Parts: sequence; C-alpha cells; structure tokens
Amino acid sequence: MRPDLRQTVRGMRDLLPDEAWRLRFIEGCARSLAELYGYEEVITPIIEYYELLAAKIGEENRKRMYVFEDLGGRKVALRPEFTASIARLVSTRMVSAPKPIRLFSFGSLYRYDEPQLGRYREFWQANYELIGSDKPEADVEILSLTNDLIEAVGLRNYVIKINHIGVLRGILEHEGISEDEQNSIMQLLDKKDWDGALKLAEKYGTSHKCLETLKRLFSVRSKDKNIFFKEISEAVKDYPSALEALNNFSEIVDLVERGGLSIHFQFESSFARGLEYYTGIIFEVYAPELNIAVGGGGRYDKLIGLFGGEDVPAIGVAFGVDRIMLAMEEQGVNPPKPERIRALVVAVDENNIVDALRIAVTLRRHGIQAETDVMRRGLSRALSDADRRGIAYTIIIGPKELGEGKVILRDMRSKVQEETRIEELPSKLSVF
Ligand code: HAM
Repeated sequence: MRPDLRQTVRGMRDLLPDEAWRLRFIEGCARSLAELYGYEEVITPIIEYYELLAAKIGEENRKRMYVFEDLGGRKVALRPEFTASIARLVSTRMVSAPKPIRLFSFGSLYRYDEPQLGRYREFWQANYELIGSDKPEADVEILSLTNDLIEAVGLRNYVIKINHIGVLRGILEHEGISEDEQNSIMQLLDKKDWDGALKLAEKYGTSHKCLETLKRLFSVRSKDKNIFFKEISEAVKDYPSALEALNNFSEIVDLVERGGLSIHFQFESSFARGLEYYTGIIFEVYAPELNIAVGGGGRYDKLIGLFGGEDVPAIGVAFGVDRIMLAMEEQGVNPPKPERIRALVVAVDENNIVDALRIAVTLRRHGIQAETDVMRRGLSRALSDADRRGIAYTIIIGPKELGEGKVILRDMRSKVQEETRIEELPSKLSVF
C-alpha cells in the first residue's frame, strides 16, 4: 500500500515550536540537575548491535525493538534505552576510570509500542547512571535526584512506587526456579497479572507454602514504611536471601529519611519492572493524572559484567520527557518563556533593503533579537504582522529619515513613534 506522505510514520510525532520549547525546558532542568549532582554527559550512538540492546531488556521490550540489517549485513537496532549502551561504555572505554562514575544522557529512543497517550514509538529520556557503588547511599542519591527532577520541572503531585526485586527473586531462587523462569514471572507482574504470575510459579513447581507466601506478598501495598516492612518480614521470614534484600531495602528507606529527604513512597511488594537486569531496589514515578510512569529506574549490579570483565555495581534512573510534558499540562504547570526584546526592521522603499539588513546585523551584535522584513508586503501589512507576532519594536527605514542618518522607532504596544539616530538604536533598545 502506498503510504500517505502527508502523515508521519505511525507512532512518530512532529514537535511544534511550543512543544519543542517545553521539551528543551525539561532538558534544561535535567542538565542543571546533572551539573548540581556532578553527572557528566556522554553521547552514545542511536544504533547499536541488536545483541547488546537485547541482552537483559526483557521479553516484552525485546519484541518491540526496531531491528534491521545494515548495508554491511550487521544485525543492529535503534536504542530502546540508554542503560545497555552505558554498560558497554563502562566495561570498555571507561573500565579504568576511577569509581564512582556519574553519567548523564539525553536523547531520543525507539520502541515499537502501541501508540496511545504518553506512549510513542519515538520518545525522549533524561537518564542518569551512578556506577561503582553497591552502598545504600548510592541508592539514596538516585532517589534524591529523582525527587529533585520532578520538583524542578514544577510537578507537585506525584508518588514514587518502590520495591526491592531481591525479595521476590530470593523466594523464587529458594524454590529452585531458574533465572529465565523468574524473568517470565516478572514479565507478568510488570503487567499486573498477579494471578497469571502465581499460576506460572505453580507450573514451574513452587511449593504450596511458597505460593501462599507469594499471594500474601502480592497483597501488601502501603504508604507507611513501618506497616510495609513489618508485613513483608513476617511473610518472608523463612527465605534468608529475601530477608537480606528486605534489610537492604529498609536500610535505604531509613537513610532517605535520616538524610533529610522527604519523598512520597508507595511501597508495593508485587511491583516488578519489565527490564530484566535489576538486582536491587526498583522504582517508578507516577503523577496521579496519568496512569503511566513518568520515570523509572533501579539497581543493576550484574549488567556491566555481562559485557566482559568484572561485575560493577550500578544504579540509575530515566525520565520520560514526553510524559513529563503531559503531566505538566495536566497539573497546569506552565513555565514562562523568557522574553527578549524583539525588533523588526522594515524598509519602506525596496532601495533601502540593504540598510535594513545592516541595521539588523548591528542590533544582533548587541544581543537584540532582530528580524528583517523578508516578505516585501508593504509597511502596513508588516506592522500588523509584527503586532500579531508580539514584536515589541519596529524600526521603519524611510528614505527621507535615512538621508539624515535616522530611522523611525515605533513602540508596538503604545504605538508611539520617534525619529532616532541609527547609532543610538542599540542603546535605546537595550534600555527599553
Ligand atoms: P523504562 O521504565 O523502560 O526504564 O523507561 C523510563 C521512562 O521512559 C518511563 O518511565 C517512561 O516515562 C518513558 N518511556 C518508556 N517507554 C515510552 C514510550 N513508548 N513513550 C513515551 N515514554 C516512554 C528504562 O529505560 C531504564 N533504562 C531506566 C534505568 C536507567 N534503569 C537504570 N538506569
């Protein structure tokens, strides 16, 4: 079928100036925060080997990758996330860099998701990775940064859903469930298919006692950490590595509070993420107006080692910029665009176009945003167009005034006009 060339490809969008500005506003907040926390930017390719990106991304995400063969016959894919590329980078070119390593990335990613509100096939992330520490204070740093980014863009209503994947894995491991089988169970949990997850666990041969534990676990949801940790430690008391994970989880949450941070957590022990590389805490940020996450992350201590060399502990988070834009709209967050003086230079007579160009060049050199009229539609059309576009001043070049080294400066708001010497224009406009 012949495509409709007036349409973007399904799932792809154009961002119009206002939308592009919002995206860059969020990028600006993300960059400032990276600087504040000491994260340095790395730029990795959009195209990577399929095997690298597919390694631990999880079945659902794997099926949604844009995979193709390049002209050299290599099986490659468009990146669906940054983390695999960063892990590759750290295990190769940054292998001897002193730890910790703090890396920031910003860019577009590609997933063949079913397009709907907040779910696109091309979307943008601001991504932070803290590499080299397995200590709880590293987890706290990423949680703190997560909270700060959401606040920095102006969102006030949000909650961070959190769990520790080591608890579930600890139980399943104890029952002799293989890692692949665990992953299949996690995929169902990620889709909130708790019954399906229980059935699958049963199919893999988990004991009746374990199924009861899982059932109990899947029902624990609380905003109160004391209730949550009490319930879970009761439920998993016979599973040593699950208990160990729970201790790590509670140490991190304690440290958040003692470190002076106030983060709204929603503790949920049935919460899993589709990505398979997580080994410790996992979390997602929700704005209640949207039922999709605006950000997510977690600890992954075994991914970097997968690409050769030793395991290097790491934790990170990525924010969905497109979804943050939606949440800002829903919550009425409208960051004001910084205003600059805008001037339009119009030649009344076509013979003076060169003079108009020269004056605009001079104004720009003084940092004044200047446009020249490029339509030659006549003065009155140029003025009404300037009005419509919110131009503050129009500089009208007429042959008579020009002969005296002057132009007419028109204040578009008050409609007051005055003759001004050309060399005085920059200083006059800067003062306004
Ligand atoms: P993720 O949860 O797959 O995590 O993606 C992070 C965020 O990207 C999501 O919370 C969501 O806001 C946004 N996002 C994902 N898919 C789409 C889509 N189709 N359309 C719009 N936005 C989307 C990761 O990517 C991990 N790499 C995060 C991480 C970093 N973990 C450790 N380090």
